[in-house]
Amino acid sequence: MLTLESYKPQQFDLSGLTGISDRTLEMHFKLYEGYVQNTNVLTEKIAEILKDGKIDHEEMPAYSELTRRLGFEYNGMVLHEYYFGNLTHNGDGDPGQGSDFRRAAEASFGRYDIWKADFSGIGKMRGVGWAICYQDPANGRLSNHWITLHEVGNVSGFTPLLVMDVWEHAFLLDYKPAERPKYIEAFFANVNWRVVEERLRVGAGASRR
Ligand SMILES: [Fe+2]
Repeated sequence: MLTLESYKPQQFDLSGLTGISDRTLEMHFKLYEGYVQNTNVLTEKIAEILKDGKIDHEEMPAYSELTRRLGFEYNGMVLHEYYFGNLTHNGDGDPGQGSDFRRAAEASFGRYDIWKADFSGIGKMRGVGWAICYQDPANGRLSNHWITLHEVGNVSGFTPLLVMDVWEHAFLLDYKPAERPKYIEAFFANVNWRVVEERLRVGAGASRR
């Protein structure tokens, strides 16, 4: 029987970011580790129910709840890995002139600053969730999306290029709740555009057929 290895939390060396304190990051890493742990626990519990090859009538309520929660925890784990992965203490604000990301943003939005206004605007929307810039692998087009919680609004099969956590835990130790725009400014100061460009290269060329 195939035994699947459980997920291990990834390590991110991010101390010394601009405008996002080490205290925030330490708390945030702990939260992320909780998503990894819960993904493993839920996967095990569901496997336990499935062990005899059937879902009994009396198991269905628990099975349903565990499965719904799995979407929340799984996306919580993966999105935090994208988020921490696209930050660096050597960030340089905006992608370089003529860079692949800037060209893709210009092709999809007309101008880079229009793409940025959209992405930042989504980040300022009320509610807890994420602002994510995706690439459609079928045609290379970029689009920005609001993700509620972790699991509502992700576009299936699209490649996440730039992922920004806008749950309040991402900035509340550093800014007031109404100061989310300042956090978004800090986020941009720390973006690792090399990582974003790498995601763009890997995601390009695939198709849904
Ligand atoms: Fe978070």
